[in-house]
Amino acid sequence: MARDPVWRLASRESPGWTSSVAAPARRQREYGPSRELAVSHSPDSSRLVVLVSGTGTNLQALLDACADVSFGARVAAVGADRDGIAGLRRAEAAGIATFTRRVSEFPSRQDWDQALTAACESFEPDLVISAGFMKLVGADFLARFGGRFINTHPALLPSFPGMQGIRDALGYGVKVTGCTVFMVDAGTDSGPVIAQAAVPVEDDDDEASLHERVKVAERALLVQTVGRMVREGWSVQGRKVRIGS
Ligand code: GRF
Repeated sequence: MARDPVWRLASRESPGWTSSVAAPARRQREYGPSRELAVSHSPDSSRLVVLVSGTGTNLQALLDACADVSFGARVAAVGADRDGIAGLRRAEAAGIATFTRRVSEFPSRQDWDQALTAACESFEPDLVISAGFMKLVGADFLARFGGRFINTHPALLPSFPGMQGIRDALGYGVKVTGCTVFMVDAGTDSGPVIAQAAVPVEDDDDEASLHERVKVAERALLVQTVGRMVREGWSVQGRKVRIGS
């Protein structure tokens, strides 16, 4: 596929946290929000690969947003670490290519990481999004996609990282929690923050009710953040992520 070179990550091969992706000037001109557009994807749309492990409501929010060509992106593929999940069914229903790479299929975690990297790479993503993907990727994946691999977490990082962000926030007794979209690095939920949204904790919240409210905020934040990134470009310098110029 012929791609506008302005899309290319300036330092795509660089594993460090100094990188930038330029804004797609040509597409902004042709597909500004005020124009009425048929729903078909511009060849200049950014390509997203979304990784899921569960119900995939964040994926669905992205699929819905991408139905409008002015969003500036399309989901090229959905990857998973397990079969039989609603997230994969959502992708199939939308006619999106899917792939599954189970850790247990590979002799080592590194082999799995390399296979996941190759699978994602085959779809030439501009941005890879972990949307409820319950696996930590390894060095090969980060060497290939560092600086353009983002994740969403149901807490205000650096508070409450890890698998139990909702439970830990409730257990601590905080009055405000929320969600964080961040650049993935080699740690657990430790990468540079891109965007955050706050969600009040109610006195009678349990894990399920709080997670549902956080997920409403999370879906909106993820869609808004991905949209801005693909339309305006972004840069990462150390821990500072800036969207736009
Ligand atoms: C989200 O809250 C995400 O942050 C967490 O798992 C949930 C995934 O939800 N890691 P869904 O699969 O997108 O519905």
